[in-house]
Amino acid sequence: MDRIRIVGGNALNGIIPISGAKNAALPLMIASLLTSDTLTLENVPHLADVEGLIRILGNHGVDIAVNGRREHQDGSYSRTVHFTCRTVADTTAPYELVSKMRASFWVIGPLLAREGQARVSLPGGCAIGTRPVDLFIEGLTALGAEMEIDGGYINAKAPKGGLIGARYTFPKVSVGATHVMLMAASLARGTTVIGNAAREPEVVDLANCLIAMGAKISGAGTSTITIEGVPSLSGARHRVLPDRIETGTYAMAVAMTGGDVTLAGTELGLLDTAIEAIRRAGAEVSAVEGGIRVIGHGDAIRPVDIVTEPFPGFPTDLQAQFMGLMTRANGVSHVTETIFENRFMHVQELARLGAKITLSGQTARIEGVSRLRGAPVMATDLRASVSLVIAGLAAEGETMVSRVYHLDRGFERLEEKLTRCGAIVERISD
Ligand code: EPZ
Repeated sequence: MDRIRIVGGNALNGIIPISGAKNAALPLMIASLLTSDTLTLENVPHLADVEGLIRILGNHGVDIAVNGRREHQDGSYSRTVHFTCRTVADTTAPYELVSKMRASFWVIGPLLAREGQARVSLPGGCAIGTRPVDLFIEGLTALGAEMEIDGGYINAKAPKGGLIGARYTFPKVSVGATHVMLMAASLARGTTVIGNAAREPEVVDLANCLIAMGAKISGAGTSTITIEGVPSLSGARHRVLPDRIETGTYAMAVAMTGGDVTLAGTELGLLDTAIEAIRRAGAEVSAVEGGIRVIGHGDAIRPVDIVTEPFPGFPTDLQAQFMGLMTRANGVSHVTETIFENRFMHVQELARLGAKITLSGQTARIEGVSRLRGAPVMATDLRASVSLVIAGLAAEGETMVSRVYHLDRGFERLEEKLTRCGAIVERISD
């Protein structure tokens, strides 16, 4: 199993190309199930989760062709992938596949809309919390589907003639359930109005792609989305938006180590709240041509309290990294997690590097320390593991992060991007 070795203490300087967003690429790839034409996605990141979903979609009958990986001048790869699902080969998504990646549960929306039925395994719990699927069941039921749980699977069936547009307001904001409703309602008969919809940029990206495929959607990016169903969707070409979580992660790394880095191919507007928090912590962040420039001052980090919330609030996917940054602040800060009930697994690992963190319910109290010391630590989930990497970059001596397969799910060529900016980071394959 691979490990990552970091020798901390170097400032980061240079350019880091930001990849396409994992959390946009996954629903966009799933949208290819909605049409018998080819959906071409540009800027698809090369990540374990993307490769996993490629295999899952193949099982449903999607033919996939990847255009050559071309290295661009700035060192970024931009993959263009073509997805074609002439006919759906299988409407069952089995446990072995869905349990590996929760997002694959989302195939339920397009399969139900296009084929009138789907049998999809319940995803089960995961390391960051219980993550139920009640909102998916309620939403699709509102569109007329019969939903029945049987042997760990959801059997979903559309009425004769297909799903029927409806008004449905989510009792709680869910990114995944909003994606699924968007896809399902695009092929329903009549108009659907989704209330309390997720407003994440990835939802807007999916809506824009569906619109390019012929869907009639308005209001994406607000909490009310209106979808006028159409009988069929066509192919399209769409570019995956930049990864705001990767952007925020590297911005926090620079704020922590000090240095001057341009994050290329990304936009400030995707993560205003997180950028505001990074600025309050003392880093300078500005929009520059083609990206964002971050100047960090290393030792002069100010304590900032944050609370995770659905977009446009502070993203839960940046919570662990921000806590990493706060471990070296000049004072006490508080980090409150409101989205997932078990997303503090990095706390024990950060403590191994010398961080002083106490947990009380959903809030962590972080007392900044003047220095962290390298140690062996273990990655527990995707974002938790990258928080250990950025803390390791600012720690004295050597940090060895094990179980890095978590990192490979969501960070494209992390070691290479950091090394090019002067960090000492290497992958050790045993
Ligand atoms: C998406 O997960 C992201 N995943 C997550 O990214 C992200 O943390 C999360 O949104 C929140 O921003 C992808 O986009 C692939 P939710 P999702 O449904 O859609 C509860 C990462 O590290 N809920 O918005 O699964 C749920 O338990 C990750 O890249 C229900 O109660 O999240 C949670 O408390 C991991 N019932 C809250 O809603 C439901 O039916 C928000 O979850 C569905 C969700």
